[in-house]
Amino acid sequence: MSESKANSIQVWDPVVRIGHWTLVTTFFIAYFTEDDLLTVHVWAGYVLGAVVLFRLVWGFVGTRHARFSDFLKSPGTVVAYLKGLRKGSAEHYVGHNPAGGIMIILLLLFLSATVYTGLELYAIEENAGPLAGLDGAGAGDTVLAVLVPVAYASDDDSSDDSNSNDSDERSGGHRNSDIDEDAEEFWEDLHVLFTNLTLLLIALHVTGVVISSRLHKENLVKAMLTGKK
Ligand code: HEM
Repeated sequence: MSESKANSIQVWDPVVRIGHWTLVTTFFIAYFTEDDLLTVHVWAGYVLGAVVLFRLVWGFVGTRHARFSDFLKSPGTVVAYLKGLRKGSAEHYVGHNPAGGIMIILLLLFLSATVYTGLELYAIEENAGPLAGLDGAGAGDTVLAVLVPVAYASDDDSSDDSNSNDSDERSGGHRNSDIDEDAEEFWEDLHVLFTNLTLLLIALHVTGVVISSRLHKENLVKAMLTGKK
């Protein structure tokens, strides 16, 4: 898969490039707005989610170097590449290198999880968004039914009986508001967790881009802007 870099060639198509910089922009807009500017936060999340979905499809039907089959390599190839990086002799790839390829999949998965947990939270907190009104029907509710009693069991045990009665009355005899509070806390914790894990991946991703750019003496950031290497 290593190819000569003597000539400047088109590597990244516009979908990959526009998609990439839209991901960067929307991720940080969403990160810095949060609850203060909820509408902006939510719309940044929608656009980010749409780009991730489109990129997943593009990974199967897109141009040569955009396809997962072009950059998803066996674990052995990834390890060999990483060892080569340490020795300063890693093989050069025209598209994503094997370590970068794994990172891209992880980024897309963690971005998806961040958006999905955000949609669940938005549905519970604001009764808005595409998952609003899907109580008990979505995959998230199945996860919730299993995990919440385990994760938040101690909170329930310590809850005051008189408060429970209040909530029973408000919810027509059921303890729905207790469940809603547990569900809200559950999705909020997960949303924060996936956001922070994604941030960690982004830090590793940018570090990898810098190391790989130096080693192969090519400007990968410029390539992600112009499409050419
Ligand atoms: C300012 C910080 C960033 C820089 C400089 C940067 C740079 C790059 C570069 C140069 C590549 C191509 C790597 C290669 O040649 O193999 C790339 C790929 C990628 N980056 Fe970033 N990146 C940044 C932030 C982010 C963020 C915040 C995300 C996610 C929200 C992200 C997600 C991705 C993805 C998914 C790809 C694969 C592109 C594709 O094949 O569609 N990047 N990035």
